[in-house]
Amino acid sequence: MTTHVIILAAGEGKRMKSDLPKVAHVAAGRELVNWVIEAARPLQPVSTVVVVGHGADQVRKILPDGVTDALQAEQLGTGHATQIGLDTLGGIEPEDVVLVLYGDTPLLTPGLLGELSSLSGGETARLISSHFSDPSGYGRVVRDESGAISGIVEHRDCTPAQLEIDEINAGIYAVRAGRLLDALKQVSNDNAQGEYYLTDVIGILVAEGGRVTAVKASPQEVMGINSQEQLAEARKELQQRTNRKLMEAGVAIIDPDRTYIDETVTVAPGATIYPGTHLEGSTSIGAGTRVGPDVFAVDSTVGADATVWYSVLRGAVVGDGCDVGPFASLRPGTVMEPGAKVGTFVETKNTTLGPGAKAPHLTYLGDATIGARANIGAGTITCNYDGYQKHPTEVGEDAFIGSDTMLVAPVRIGDRAITGAGSTITRDVEDDALAVERSDQKEIPGYSQRRAARRAAKDAED
Ligand code: UD1
Ligand code: CA
Repeated sequence: MTTHVIILAAGEGKRMKSDLPKVAHVAAGRELVNWVIEAARPLQPVSTVVVVGHGADQVRKILPDGVTDALQAEQLGTGHATQIGLDTLGGIEPEDVVLVLYGDTPLLTPGLLGELSSLSGGETARLISSHFSDPSGYGRVVRDESGAISGIVEHRDCTPAQLEIDEINAGIYAVRAGRLLDALKQVSNDNAQGEYYLTDVIGILVAEGGRVTAVKASPQEVMGINSQEQLAEARKELQQRTNRKLMEAGVAIIDPDRTYIDETVTVAPGATIYPGTHLEGSTSIGAGTRVGPDVFAVDSTVGADATVWYSVLRGAVVGDGCDVGPFASLRPGTVMEPGAKVGTFVETKNTTLGPGAKAPHLTYLGDATIGARANIGAGTITCNYDGYQKHPTEVGEDAFIGSDTMLVAPVRIGDRAITGAGSTITRDVEDDALAVERSDQKEIPGYSQRRAARRAAKDAED
């Protein structure tokens, strides 16, 4: 069966009270409209068109390749928007199935859409309905005495008796293309909102003798997002779905209610995720690795058998067996080769730590290359910025940087070289050398007694 998808996304979404078009809001790593596109993807539609209007440019920017957009300059109703979508779809045959979806329903599943679109030979259309305890605001599914669908009536156009109907129209339909085109021509805007309603198509199809059936869905699956509160609710559900999928695949998640993993992230089976962990973007976590508690990682790669806790990783690459945190900040361009360690209150930026290199405490490493097994003492700072430009620091293999060393870049510390604690290093240090830069220690014997005597004499004067 040939399937086409039209996604209506031209509306403003005023109740979101945000500058973003509604369908561009992000939940669990994907914009709302992209959740809808992804839910339809397994049906392998031959074409997908998104009808844009409010914030058209912002919506166009986030659409994936292979998806077309069509502009609805004026929002004259869902029927009008569907017509514009159809005009943009090329090469439609009358018996093809057109799926019309709304761009603000991110909880749709491929399973539900598959059921919706598998029209049997004699069927003209299928829609999704749901029983809502509070149906107010929704279009109602009206049925005849035999229980067959006779049409949809918008809330504002309902009679008092129709307002009592609790079966609502989810706003998701599969219709034969030829019938949809004909019916849309007959839709008028003679209703409470003065809009061309897509929902009128259903009544028109039935009146013409077409067979229309409903697929029942849970209220949650068809939930439309109209407010920040509903967006948060959807986020929670999407997050739970991702967590369930990961747990089924063998990832240990200590508290799924407090774990926030984007759909775009990969976590290998055998990893353990502690609460308060946020994994975003292209982040990937290797097998046997422990992440969390309280880790924020975006676009970062963590290898196998590593430990990362109470830390922030942005565009960082952490190798197998590495140790990060607590309280480390790995900024873009950080590369930790296998077995390296970045510990408590350490910040790194555009820095490579060789295999087994360690910066365990209170350090800033920027634009630095740290050799294998080198040890960076507590309080070491690369002074990489002169106020105008960044300069590189190189530390050789097995070097030992004493505590509180200032490495004034550009500077190179040789292999196995040592710096004395408290030194400010401004010149390169040869391999195997010791560099110390600090004034000699003075000692004044008996000083504390002299000081106490001075104080006593002063007190006597007062
Ligand atoms: C619609 C249905 C209603 C259903 C409800 C489910 C109609 C007439 N009514 O009502 O039966 O119960 O959804 O959530 O379809 N849009 C456009 N262009 C327009 C108008 C709307 O692209 O000119 C888009 C909106 O961006 C939105 C979707 O269509 O994504 C639905 O429009 P909205 O105005 O929210 O319809 P509802 O009143 O919710
Ligand atoms: Ca709506």
